[in-house]
Amino acid sequence: MTMQSPLIIALDYPSLDAALCMADQLDPARCRLKVGKELFTRSGPAVLEALHGRGFEVFLDLKFHDIPNTVASAVQAAAEQGVWMVNVHAGGGRKMMQAAAERLRANDLKTHLIAVTVLTSFEAGDLAEVGVEAPIAEQVKRLAVLAKNSGMSGVVCSAQEAAALESCCGANFLKVTPGIRPSFAAANDQRRIMTPSAAMQAGSTHLVVGRPVTQAEKPMAALQAIETELAGR
Ligand code: C5P
Repeated sequence: MTMQSPLIIALDYPSLDAALCMADQLDPARCRLKVGKELFTRSGPAVLEALHGRGFEVFLDLKFHDIPNTVASAVQAAAEQGVWMVNVHAGGGRKMMQAAAERLRANDLKTHLIAVTVLTSFEAGDLAEVGVEAPIAEQVKRLAVLAKNSGMSGVVCSAQEAAALESCCGANFLKVTPGIRPSFAAANDQRRIMTPSAAMQAGSTHLVVGRPVTQAEKPMAALQAIETELAGR
């Protein structure tokens, strides 16, 4: 059965126990889970095994960026552990992305491989400091097109960028968007936020939601509220 929900819940926890405690409150038929650098660095492949064992599909958000062979091997290792999605930095360039995509293809691995364009923590001054004079929106578009042409199946992007990326990369190009805040939730440290339904309307294909669900008193009730909002759009 293929999962219909666009929701990916970010398991941003410092230990396997804490992550599983949250996962056990969620339903693998109604959301996927995202494992990031802190959790994976602390708990390693055990977290993937535990989540897969519970029936969840996992987005391993490690944002690889290295020489082509190293990234291709890391992506292969992730895919062989059965993750649903893994990502790299588009800034690693065409050869790096092509090597990773080709490695998956050669080994008949179906994991979705997507790219990060410009980190949302970047401001214009930060880009200029690393030698990129283009405005952020232009750089995001440039890297998204490069990612598509290098065999990536999508990008991580803000919902604000999703519409522009749909016109240059197409509706089938995955747009995985964090910074999602349902009307019932606090913004926390996110700046440019969008509600789940507005983000889907803007062209997102998947929504990454962390604290509005994981810090809710009843995580499944929060998830349900988001589903209801999405159903009504
Ligand atoms: O708790 P919250 O919903 O803000 O969590 C969002 C998740 O998405 C976190 O895991 C965060 O690291 C990730 N993320 C983000 N902004 C990006 C890329 C990833 O918030 N540009």
